Amino acid sequence: MPLAQIIGTGSYAPAQVITNKDLEKFVDTSDEWIVERTGIRERRKAAPGETTSDMAVAAAREALAMAGVRPEDLELIVVGTITADMPMPSCAVFVQAKLGAGRAFAFDVAAACAGGVYALSVAEQFIRTGQVKRALVIGADLFTGVLNWNDRNTCVLFGDGAGAMVLAPAQEEGRGLLSTHLRTDGALAEILTIPAGGSREPLTEENIRTQRHKLNMNGREVFKCAVRELTSITHEALKVHGLTTSQVDHFIAHQANLRILEAVMQRIEIPLEKCWINLDKYGNTSAASVPIALDEANRAGRLKRGDIVVMVAIGSGMTWGCAVVRW
Ligand code: UT7
Repeated sequence: MPLAQIIGTGSYAPAQVITNKDLEKFVDTSDEWIVERTGIRERRKAAPGETTSDMAVAAAREALAMAGVRPEDLELIVVGTITADMPMPSCAVFVQAKLGAGRAFAFDVAAACAGGVYALSVAEQFIRTGQVKRALVIGADLFTGVLNWNDRNTCVLFGDGAGAMVLAPAQEEGRGLLSTHLRTDGALAEILTIPAGGSREPLTEENIRTQRHKLNMNGREVFKCAVRELTSITHEALKVHGLTTSQVDHFIAHQANLRILEAVMQRIEIPLEKCWINLDKYGNTSAASVPIALDEANRAGRLKRGDIVVMVAIGSGMTWGCAVVRW
């Protein structure tokens, strides 16, 4: 069975930039604290009326153009998101309609910040089995809409954006997605949640007033889990292919905090220069983070044929995943 290959990438970030200085005006924080503790300098915010599917479609059009694939050739659209346009239906169905990809079946994958890698892994299975020949994978999140702008622990960290990949069966032996690895620890569900708005705590005036329909995070616990699990899954995934970390050419990691990236890179002994870093510009874009970073590295001409590319992401759940690619 052929491997799945990424034949096009694309990304989109809304035009409006919110700097750390802008945040200083309404929340008790400082540019110095945010840069020192996270590495983030600015993030993007969707325009009024701009939806998650709008961002997803913009990223998708770029990826399709690079791949030379028409929307009507797509057979599958998977969107990693937890901030869909509405609770029902999925974001993916709006993407399908806006692109005019009428042959594709479409659905969302809810794995928060790991959503891009989870969606990639799901699409990979359809390509590998031969059920689908052209798949569109998107990570898109509009996190500024689910932030409590009075909570300095969270509101400084996130931004909006979308990234996309087009997958097809590999034409050359040995190239493509060598494997994807997904992991979950539901026992850690409570450390990163949007508590209200679901069946457990339906929306009321009271929980809206107390902002329980917005993101809530135990940052230190998420930090520890991220360093531990991203390190461990990278080792685990490379071992499957008899690869060592010194053979990795590019590390495309979830952009949550520069200190997390530094800690992981140090533990897996890959120099930080091999890690694509753009969190200074976008903050944490959740499911979009890895697909945007991949697209930037790709368009910068960094990814050469045959290079080993490792993608890792972690998010609420906790959910995490890794993809190993021979480019
Ligand atoms: O995709 C997964 C999603 N999330 C993440 O990956 C986030 C993982 N966690 C982190 O990145 C870090 O834990 C944070 C950036 C969220 C926080 O950094 P930290 O070094 O763990 O800080 P802390 O939570 O231990 O807080 C240290 C201090 C506290 O003050 P006191 O109690 O020492 O007086 C906080 O209240 O920093 C304070 N603080 C802030 N100060 C200024 C927290 N947020 C801010 C802020 N500005 N924005």
